[in-house]
Amino acid sequence: MKLSTPLTLPCGVTLKNRFAKSAMSENMASSGHLGNPKFATLYRRWSNGGAGLLITGNIMVDSSALGEPHNIVFEKGLEQQGIKSWTGAGRENETHLWAQLNHPGKQSPKFLSPTPVAPSAVALKAPLDKIFNKPRELREDEILAIIARFGIAAAIAKDHGFTGVQIHGAHGYLVSQFLSPHHNRREDRWGGSLENRMRFACEVYKSIRENVGADFPVGIKLNSADFQKGGFSEEDSMEVVKELSALGMDLIEISGGNYESQEMMGKPKKESTKKREAYFLEYCEKVRKVTDTPLMLTGGFRTLDGMNEALATDSCDVIGLGRSLVINPEFPKQLLAGESVKSEVQQLTTGFKSLDKNFPLEITWYTQQIHRMGQGKDPDPKQSVLASVLHTLFSMGIQGLKRVRS
Ligand SMILES: Cc1cc2nc3c(=O)[nH]c(=O)nc-3n(C[C@H](O)[C@H](O)[C@H](O)COP(=O)(O)O)c2cc1C
Repeated sequence: MKLSTPLTLPCGVTLKNRFAKSAMSENMASSGHLGNPKFATLYRRWSNGGAGLLITGNIMVDSSALGEPHNIVFEKGLEQQGIKSWTGAGRENETHLWAQLNHPGKQSPKFLSPTPVAPSAVALKAPLDKIFNKPRELREDEILAIIARFGIAAAIAKDHGFTGVQIHGAHGYLVSQFLSPHHNRREDRWGGSLENRMRFACEVYKSIRENVGADFPVGIKLNSADFQKGGFSEEDSMEVVKELSALGMDLIEISGGNYESQEMMGKPKKESTKKREAYFLEYCEKVRKVTDTPLMLTGGFRTLDGMNEALATDSCDVIGLGRSLVINPEFPKQLLAGESVKSEVQQLTTGFKSLDKNFPLEITWYTQQIHRMGQGKDPDPKQSVLASVLHTLFSMGIQGLKRVRS
């Protein structure tokens, strides 16, 4: 079974099999964006679960630009704690543990960023404008400083025992904002042509590579497209893949969408496409033709047949799993042992249509399961979705209040 075969990356490092846990924000840092023992408890569970690669939830490169209040931050001058026990636990059983590095750009909520930054001053569309303020355009010196921050954060990750890093270049965060002609309206060397729009992603890669050396894995999570009128297209994405491959990227993870168009979490499918469970498989097949760089495909994998099919046709080299590994952290191990198991991921509902439509249920419910595991408990697939929404609204309210007061 190809799922159990090792994969050697361009930098020379070998992953023990083809399962990867994709990044899922833990939002679990201690005050000051510091690590704590819950991360070790959580990642020990996953490193015992059989995947060859674990990618952390997004770690921010700037404490003044957060996606969520309890993100871990790696930046100069911030002395971290508890990270080595986390990396020790996540590396058990010869598992690779990579840090996902991110800057949210405009996708930083109002209560965290009164004026977020972005390539251009383009606000997120309604109803998201109620949650996120209109950003201001970054100056050239600020762009260069953020690029340097990615390099510094990667060096911190390496020093603390992570075995690789991944740039978050997908889902509408800063790298992805630069790539998109809708979000990036600049007329200088960072905007306009695709060559200019991809300059930020390329410079972030180079800054990281300079800091970690040639034999340390560096990957990126990239959108197949933004699924937005005037946004980043499949054609653009394929050109970016070619360029990043030429620069020496070790693993390119394919996803898609952003906060305005949440394709990364899946959309109801047409009957004709239902058989292909992975959301971005068709795009991955196209990309395969333009690059030899290892490809990881994430989103929608639920069955052994679906995974085997994607690997057998060489559409991708690594199977990325998110929510399935929250409900069942031992899923890869069980599949490799030949057990007949299937992902239990299902459509979540609160029972209230408008709440389901307007609230990020998937994030809040799964984050609570992640927190359970961080406390050493089993996930609870029966946990009420409505209760998780109320819990999140309550804690966001408290956070917002704290920020206003401080
Ligand atoms: C709670 C939660 C948090 C997430 N956080 C991140 C993140 O920090 N970085 C990222 O690249 N993707 C993040 N994702 C998206 C997942 O990595 C993945 O792309 C998505 O869940 C689709 O895969 P799946 O169908 O296997 O769940 C998150 C998903 C969930 C459910």
